[in-house]
Amino acid sequence: MILTTETNTEVNNQFLNETITGLSAKPKYMHSKYFYDEAGDYIFQQIMNMEEYYLTDAEMEIMQYQADQIANVISDGSDAFDLIELGAGDATKSIHLLRKLINKKLNFQYFPIDISAHVISDLSVKLPQALPELQFTGLNGDYFDMLKAANETSDRQKVVLFMGANIGNMNVDEAEAFCVKVKALLSPDDLLIIGFDLKKNPKQILDAYNDKSGITRSFNLNLLNRINRELEGNFNLDHFEHYATYDPETGECKSYLISLENQVVNIGEHAIQFQKNEYVYMEISQKYAIAEIERLAHRSGFKVQQYFFDSRQYFVDAIWKVA
Ligand code: AVI
Repeated sequence: MILTTETNTEVNNQFLNETITGLSAKPKYMHSKYFYDEAGDYIFQQIMNMEEYYLTDAEMEIMQYQADQIANVISDGSDAFDLIELGAGDATKSIHLLRKLINKKLNFQYFPIDISAHVISDLSVKLPQALPELQFTGLNGDYFDMLKAANETSDRQKVVLFMGANIGNMNVDEAEAFCVKVKALLSPDDLLIIGFDLKKNPKQILDAYNDKSGITRSFNLNLLNRINRELEGNFNLDHFEHYATYDPETGECKSYLISLENQVVNIGEHAIQFQKNEYVYMEISQKYAIAEIERLAHRSGFKVQQYFFDSRQYFVDAIWKVA
């Protein structure tokens, strides 16, 4: 079953409004949540397969080899629960955990939530083939609207999964506000499982976001293409350049598009001026130290239950309980 809330017109109006607001601001910015149209989803698949992009393999290793221990922390088998995944994507990592939970004969329902309608409809085909016993309801829409919808279906214990270092695409203040909002929808003893990319050799991090083959560059530039297509824009992609930075002190990995000339870009009836060398802030991928994860849990009303690291300690899936 699939539940959906937003209409295409609402989504498009929001995309236009947020794009114009961001490009009229000083300094200019865009929202990385709009990277993921069909072409963006495809480029992101290529990023995940890149040699330099260690994050996916690291979290996959955790899910492949430690799903049993994670399942033990989630449930001792005495009570039924709802497993709600925020930004489920193609569920290739969570499927290991789902399989383990099924093999342990635990009584649970899976609610994959994704903002992308085609992700949820693909899942509704893929999941029954891969895991015929799985009981699930796909939820298409905003995370919090859908989390509320999932909450209203039962008063069973909730286990929220937020993997893939998606928390990193918020700055630390936004991440705290996000976790506070999740906590407000949960009850005592509910769990939140979050994937964090850890601070490590700065060169290794920068390489993952500045790959030699230019895949990350196309990922960012694809948003200009999307604006051209969906919002009647006339960006010339040759007039912008991808630029990535990593600050080992703050853990902020940021990407920008740099305007290579003075230019005016039209988006529908709006005219946006760019100066030569002006930057547009595109995305943050925040990296964390364990003490910073601990602080985030505490400040947002959770206590850390357990950490699951990959063998190279590049990545961690942290299990938090509502405090
Ligand atoms: C989806 N998100 C966790 C990715 C990241 O690593 O921040 C998005 C990404 N941007 C560039 N490369 C990958």
